[in-house]
Amino acid sequence: MRDRRKHDVASWSRFFWFTAVVVVSCVLFTGFSLSTFRLFIGETFRPVLGSTRQSSTRNAVVSNEVAVIPVLSIRETVLLPDEVLLFLKYPPSVRFFTKEELVCVYLSADKSSSEPRLKQPAVGVDNEHLGEQIVRCPSCPRGMTVTVDSKSYGIIPAGPTHRWDTLAYEALIDKDNTTVVFVKGLNLRPERISNASRFECMYGWDFMKLSLLLRSEVLSIAQEIVRCKTPLSILNGQQRVNGTIKVSVRIKGSGALPSIARLGHLGNPGPDPTPTRKPHEMCICTMARNQARFLKEWVMYHARIGVQRWYIYDNNSDDDTDSVIESLFDANYNISRHLWPWIKTQEAGFAHCALRARDFCDWVGFIDVDEFFHLPSGLMLHDVIRNLTSTTSLKLNTQSRYIPIGELRVSCHSFGPSGLKHVPQQGVTVGYTCRMMAPERHKSIVKPEALNSTLINVVHHFHLRDGFRFVDVNRTMMVVNHYKFQVWEVFKEKFYRRVATYVADWQDEQNVGSKDRAPGLGTKAVEPVDWSNRFCEVVDTGLKDRVLQNFAHPGTSLLPWQDANDVIKGFSSVEKKSRKSKRKA
Ligand SMILES: *[C@@H]1O[C@H](CO)[C@@H](O)[C@H](O)[C@H]1NC(C)=O
Ligand SMILES: *[C@@H]1O[C@H](CO)[C@@H](O)[C@H](O)[C@H]1NC(C)=O
Ligand SMILES: *[C@@H]1O[C@H](CO)[C@@H](O)[C@H](O)[C@H]1NC(C)=O
Ligand SMILES: *[C@@H]1O[C@H](CO)[C@@H](O)[C@H](O)[C@H]1NC(C)=O
Ligand SMILES: *[C@@H]1O[C@H](CO)[C@@H](O)[C@H](O)[C@H]1NC(C)=O
Ligand SMILES: *[C@@H]1O[C@H](CO)[C@@H](O)[C@H](O)[C@H]1NC(C)=O
Ligand SMILES: *[C@@H]1O[C@H](CO)[C@@H](O)[C@H](O)[C@H]1NC(C)=O
Ligand SMILES: *[C@@H]1O[C@H](CO)[C@@H](O)[C@H](O)[C@H]1NC(C)=O
Repeated sequence: MRDRRKHDVASWSRFFWFTAVVVVSCVLFTGFSLSTFRLFIGETFRPVLGSTRQSSTRNAVVSNEVAVIPVLSIRETVLLPDEVLLFLKYPPSVRFFTKEELVCVYLSADKSSSEPRLKQPAVGVDNEHLGEQIVRCPSCPRGMTVTVDSKSYGIIPAGPTHRWDTLAYEALIDKDNTTVVFVKGLNLRPERISNASRFECMYGWDFMKLSLLLRSEVLSIAQEIVRCKTPLSILNGQQRVNGTIKVSVRIKGSGALPSIARLGHLGNPGPDPTPTRKPHEMCICTMARNQARFLKEWVMYHARIGVQRWYIYDNNSDDDTDSVIESLFDANYNISRHLWPWIKTQEAGFAHCALRARDFCDWVGFIDVDEFFHLPSGLMLHDVIRNLTSTTSLKLNTQSRYIPIGELRVSCHSFGPSGLKHVPQQGVTVGYTCRMMAPERHKSIVKPEALNSTLINVVHHFHLRDGFRFVDVNRTMMVVNHYKFQVWEVFKEKFYRRVATYVADWQDEQNVGSKDRAPGLGTKAVEPVDWSNRFCEVVDTGLKDRVLQNFAHPGTSLLPWQDANDVIKGFSSVEKKSRKSKRKA
């Protein structure tokens, strides 16, 4: 996974010029002293070579030009409310640094001194596609600029800085050759399709220099997703698509949104863009933040009822999410993690995932990591779906044609702590057995090609293309068990997170009426005396019974997600890990 994208010599020579420009510009504009300058090209420079193939590239360059040594640069910086994202651009011959090799440094913004005023460990380091790495740093104090220091390069000059809420942040070419751009800050009407003719897409390198831009028509625009006609010169490969061209959007007659969105592909288009049979019948897309302790049971359980592929959009986790996903992948679960640090973009993330899954999955479910599909019939998911969508259950339209089903809507049951005081060792599906009576709003399973091309989706359901319809699934066939209110120890973390999202200091008595707060809780993270018996109206052991009957090991009675050694010691492995990471924090 850490393998670097291969670079050719042409891209290297481009890099050469880029390097020269960066070196000059930091001397001229950032006011770095000569000693700092020496720091990143001087003796401390020790490139870490990647694959053997790349060492020849490096030799060629070294013999060409000794004076210019590749430097790392920060392509973009994005300020989030509680973190800073730095997009690190590497010279082709250098392997990515690990989290331990990088440190966030904060410099005086007035550039009076190049001495770091503060150093902090990075919150996370992610290797993204297109030869880049995303470093997440703690928020930047007022009056400072944030950048990174690496052992072998020294302090890297700070990059152009953007705010998260006014930004084009993702752009990809879809199968029909249109470009899909994900944006924040256009403030369009929610849940509606907006008037495309008022907008324009922009393709280029620097949106301040209008001369370098290509423009194109907007085909549709809704919420925070824009679909544009891709300029022909880009499609025909006259412009290098990979990692160089950025896309933005503007209201005609005004400036373009700042953009960090480099045009790319999802990597899908193979030789046969519409295979007759997709590899997976059922996949799941989810968005998660610090849910590592639930992932193992959630993935292993769903695998046993027929899910074949998991796409995890990771919203800035700083727990063990990445290593848990890696170990599940190593255990042959087809699961991938995609960094999705953007704020209030759940709809956009789901749309992005639907595009990613489209060529591989007949059906895609959109649920959270504390939600479990439960099939009281005891059937497998794909059998239930086939049953629900088979022709005998189809309706005829006015021309006596079948109207195919594009979406299944599944009701959710909200479970409470069920009398427990401690994290259930056998997992949530076995531990929590008491829930609220009334189902809550539903979750969807969709056929990705049935989605409306605007990709508009609202509270977990997508708008469909004309000619498709949805069905409400009978609860005797399928429900979602939502383990929403767990033991206090777990719920508390969710509570802190929620509060942290809305107020700078969670103890501030702001936003007390917010709907995101659990009913009956104030701003104090103190366990209500009756917590363990709350949210309990009906005993429901349906899923517990199925799990114990079907998935427990006949000899040891252990469930697949339980670790024998840890059970003896009294902790589940996930719990232990999360203790460890808490201590780190
Ligand atoms: C997309 O563009 C490429 C290059 O112009 C072309 O070869 C291909 O046929 C186009 N595909 C579609 C679906 O229009
Ligand atoms: C969309 O905007 C254009 C230009 O601003 C305008 O001419 C057109 O009438 C609008 N269409 C709708 C349906 O509002
Ligand atoms: C983009 O990258 C892919 C895979 O590395 C390569 O096959 C393709 O030719 C590249 N396209 C352009 C326009 O550079
Ligand atoms: C995992 O899923 C992808 C499609 O998303 C597929 O291309 C790949 O072959 C699968 N890998 C395994 C090991 O099944
Ligand atoms: C990701 O987490 C942050 C809290 O840091 C929250 O503000 C944001 O809305 C979340 N993003 C999504 C897509 O839910
Ligand atoms: C769906 O399943 C139910 C219950 O198992 C069965 O009675 C029904 O015939 C099935 N329908 C189809 C179309 O397979
Ligand atoms: C998408 O939805 C809009 C509005 O609901 C509709 O006008 C349009 O025809 C739909 N697109 C397709 C491809 O069905
Ligand atoms: C759901 O299925 C059950 C059992 O098959 C049936 O009795 C009930 O009427 C169905 N409910 C709805 C709303 O169709």
